[in-house]
Amino acid sequence: MKKSQIVLTQYSPFLSVDTPLVAVDGNSVAIPRVCSLCRCGESKYKPMCDGSHSAVGFVWTREDSDKAEPEHYVGKDITIVFDRYLCMGNGACGELEAVFGTRKEPKYEPDAASADEIIAIIKKCPSGALSYILDGKHIRFFFDRPQVVVEQNGPLHVQGEVNLIDDQDSDKLIPVGDHYTLCRCGGSKKKPLCDGSHEENGFEG
Ligand code: FES
Repeated sequence: MKKSQIVLTQYSPFLSVDTPLVAVDGNSVAIPRVCSLCRCGESKYKPMCDGSHSAVGFVWTREDSDKAEPEHYVGKDITIVFDRYLCMGNGACGELEAVFGTRKEPKYEPDAASADEIIAIIKKCPSGALSYILDGKHIRFFFDRPQVVVEQNGPLHVQGEVNLIDDQDSDKLIPVGDHYTLCRCGGSKKKPLCDGSHEENGFEG
């Protein structure tokens, strides 16, 4: 298989290249090798682009590129690494409240559960905001094949090694790893990455 890629400009939809697509129902979608995916939120055929972005005249320049160094929370067995810029509030980490707290009051307590429990939760974080260090190794690769999974009323979950190539060097915002989330509601300030704005702007699709 050729190297999977997502390619875009500030004025374009996502061009998915050699990347399998999984719909919200979990089924694979038959798509050509190159396929346009909506990121303005207006297409009538989501997740596909139908050209609506031209009609709405949207320009998707990133407003927030203020990325700090990842935070390290060192425990006796495991270190939780949190890349705050990438967090889009998916909430999967809240399943382990003793360690990660709640959406309103997040925290990072690496000794409040076993390393295995923490790892299982970190693997559910779709944005790449959470990763971990165990036995001196920073673990950030969780997927064995590339694909894009559509979240109902939410972003695209990019999994596996899928290159992100655009005219704003957005790949520099994604750490070494194999997963990230892409905005398809048009509302993120961290475009093309999802920042959780879909939770507030009523995006459906
Ligand atoms: S899908 Fe647009 S901010 Fe999440």
